[in-house]
Amino acid sequence: MAKICVVGTGYVGMIQSVGMAKLGFNVIAVDIDENKVDKINNKIPPIYEKGLKKLLEKLVPSKMSATTDLKKAVMESDVTFVCVGTPSKKQGSMSMYQLEVVSKEIGKILKNKNKYHVIVVKSTVIPGTSENIVVKTIEKKSGKKCPKDFGIVMNPEFLKEGTAIDDFFEPDRIVLGSNDSKALKIIKKLYSSFKCPVLETSLKEAEMIKYVSNAFLATKISFINEIGNICKKFDINSNLIAKGIGLDRRISPKFLKSGIGFGGSCFPKDVNALVYKATELGYNPRLLRSVLDVNREQPLKLLELLEKLGKLRGKKIGILGLTFKSGTDDIRESPALSTIKELLMEEADLNIYDPKAMPQVKKIFPHLNYLKNGQQVIEDSEIVLILTEWPEFKKLNYGDKLVIDGKNVFDNGNVPKNYEGVCW
Ligand code: UGA
Repeated sequence: MAKICVVGTGYVGMIQSVGMAKLGFNVIAVDIDENKVDKINNKIPPIYEKGLKKLLEKLVPSKMSATTDLKKAVMESDVTFVCVGTPSKKQGSMSMYQLEVVSKEIGKILKNKNKYHVIVVKSTVIPGTSENIVVKTIEKKSGKKCPKDFGIVMNPEFLKEGTAIDDFFEPDRIVLGSNDSKALKIIKKLYSSFKCPVLETSLKEAEMIKYVSNAFLATKISFINEIGNICKKFDINSNLIAKGIGLDRRISPKFLKSGIGFGGSCFPKDVNALVYKATELGYNPRLLRSVLDVNREQPLKLLELLEKLGKLRGKKIGILGLTFKSGTDDIRESPALSTIKELLMEEADLNIYDPKAMPQVKKIFPHLNYLKNGQQVIEDSEIVLILTEWPEFKKLNYGDKLVIDGKNVFDNGNVPKNYEGVCW
């Protein structure tokens, strides 16, 4: 059985590690952050993800361990999954810094490794990157040749935060990009227990599938948000419109929930990167630009409803939810943060609660009133805004307080007495 090294212990690397270990492979997870490595070796998840703790408890140390020693991990394994971050730079392009550093390091290590090794790129990267950065850098540093001495495969991930472990074990498809049959055979074997379709493509096509998948889902959301904004003008409930169109199997009901827009570490970053690259290549991606424009303005729809009620200065406003969606502690690009910023500019008095993300948000906004539960936020506020669809918010007693819902929390009934939705 192949031995596996996973570089990077963020969301993607962590799930790839426990997933592969659960399938029975021996996995070494690598990170430069000693604190994260210690946590993993002590069976403590370095990120919050449903089911991760249980899997670590079961798999560490028998099937999985973590280290800061990349050399040892690569030397002792047959396959390395590269799962490092590719964050946005200011203008929207992607930073390849971590990928370049890791490729250099792997190259230096492979120089002294006599056995064949396969590199699998899982990080989201612009088409051409696996070939032009990863392969070229490793070849340069190792003095070896791909595909003769080492193999390369691009294997994008389609995991959603909050359901990432289920998504790993029940994927809709596996995409394997490579023009190297030896490497491909080894990686196909790793996934041989999966029943879903496996699509074989070139490296570049696999990289593009990942972007297009996220761009399409983001487009669906901005589309339904735009329709929701129009519905609101007609006084029509856009939830029913989404249901009505979603029953058409060609459209599907998924990713048709209107609200205050998409956030997270993926959709905003990936659509931006695609727009940036397309523009650089001489194409003006009008539709994708609009997807981002609609999304940027969507949190303001909630504020427009609020402003109708008069001046916000000194008004006690309750905020329920800070993460970009429920089931995660992730606040990256969360519409809740831009909403808080706007409200602070209006000098509103904010009471805040989130079940998972208060410590992170306290670092950004240290002087707000962070309360110990949602009920207290309702009691201490004149108006309540729901900015994340945490299920516990459905069960609170809102009394007569005005609730403005940005996340469709009550779509199945039990709506508070005094209630307004952003697009419904
Ligand atoms: C997304 C993709 O769904 C994954 O397939 C992909 O692997 C991942 O990005 C990635 O590239 O790593 P994720 O960002 O975890 O996953 O979360 P989603 O569930 O897709 O939600 C993204 C945002 O869209 C959230 O803010 C969510 O609230 C919003 N959303 C989602 C809507 O506003 N409406 C919807 O109908 C669905």
